[in-house]
Amino acid sequence: MTGPLGSPWPAGAVRHDDGVVSFAGVRVTDLALEHGTPTFVLDERDFRDRARGVREAFEAAFGEIGADVDVYYAGKAFLSVAVARWARAEGLRVDVSTAGELAVALRAEVPGPQIGLHGNNKSDAEVRTALEHGVGRIVVDSLVEIDQVAALAEQAGVRAPVMVRVTTGVHAGGHEFIATAHEDQKFGLSLAAPAGEPSPALLALRAAHAHPALELVGIHSHIGSQILDPAAFPVAARRVLELRAAFAAESGLLVPEVDLGGGFGIAYLPGEVALDPARVATDLAAAVVAVARELGGELPRFSVEPGRAVVGPTTATVYTVGTVKPVRLEDGRVRTYVSVDGGMSDNLRTALYGAAYHAEIVSRRSDAEPVLARVVGKHCESGDVVVDEVMLPGDVRAGDLLAVAATGAYGRSMASNYNLVPRPPVVAVRDGASRVLVRRETIADLLDLDLG
Ligand code: LLP
Repeated sequence: MTGPLGSPWPAGAVRHDDGVVSFAGVRVTDLALEHGTPTFVLDERDFRDRARGVREAFEAAFGEIGADVDVYYAGKAFLSVAVARWARAEGLRVDVSTAGELAVALRAEVPGPQIGLHGNNKSDAEVRTALEHGVGRIVVDSLVEIDQVAALAEQAGVRAPVMVRVTTGVHAGGHEFIATAHEDQKFGLSLAAPAGEPSPALLALRAAHAHPALELVGIHSHIGSQILDPAAFPVAARRVLELRAAFAAESGLLVPEVDLGGGFGIAYLPGEVALDPARVATDLAAAVVAVARELGGELPRFSVEPGRAVVGPTTATVYTVGTVKPVRLEDGRVRTYVSVDGGMSDNLRTALYGAAYHAEIVSRRSDAEPVLARVVGKHCESGDVVVDEVMLPGDVRAGDLLAVAATGAYGRSMASNYNLVPRPPVVAVRDGASRVLVRRETIADLLDLDLG
């Protein structure tokens, strides 16, 4: 029976009577013929709906409390010129973290003032390019960087708008958050003060405020990624607002903007419940109002910068099955190793984080009894696992098309050329038509890099 695949698949994924799945009206068998495999298939409408949905949810919740809010799309999750254009068309700004991401946003004609630049180790060239294009905010990550940006701004004869990235001690990610200081990592300026001394975060605010070549426009906090517990966000927001109030008390400057980062978790498996951005928005709005009442002072302009929640669920990776090998486990069970024509070079998350994914055969119907399967790639190591555990039809065989759901975030963007495997294309689907956003890399591309 024809019907939508549902979560965690892209919104426009439908399985038809013959068992073939279509994405936004394009049959996966046709996609494979036209574009080959592996291919990232991105549902444009889903992307745009999610981008708009996040923006509208935050505007509604913060509108209620009389605060302005901007939503930045975090391009690190996946950025291409088309995607940056869609984000902008849906009223989002774009957050970039390198010169490469900045170049793509600029090629997409995202206006400089609507771009934010991140990075814990920005090069002079990156900062210069950002200043040249009038990037709206450079998020500074260390005291050294404050001097760096100030010096480059002076050279360029401009005033650089900077936000200070602070680490609130709320470190969240995966399924839990730990409300204790998470100091032992490279990002940001800590709120934790050594006894009797100002915190690095406060020192940074002072330094940024004092420098004539810098305009201190905001305080920034990002607490982690793939967060499924909404309680983490208000805790961090409170700490940032307290810092803002403390700095206002000593400096007279009520820092105008507060960015609360991204990190909204998505569903990777059937039955898994994503963090609803609307829930985060209402919880955050309620929390900041409560804190503002306590602390006094005008509310800042807010911003958030989700990546995964916008692009993650919109994309599936389509592979062709090759070798199928049943292995008898020590406990007597059989695990069927299903090799596909990609692997850890197009999805590193399983190997790197032990991430769980869902996969299905999408090119036919099968009534065969499901078997315990592990989807593996074509790379030369046994850690090359795409889906660690999934039930697949027992007659899975070479030539089947297999799709893995929710690969839009940190999939293509973290792809590599391990074993000199060319990286897959990203193909957008919409209204029954497909269009290549990022073309498939070729072996010729790889040979071009090799100067012999
Ligand atoms: N803002 C900042 C400052 C960030 O560092 C990040 C992600 C984001 C926004 C967007 O977070 P999102 O909404 O996408 O969770 N490679 C890892 C994720 C690394 C996230 C790094 N920072 C993964 O595949 O799970």
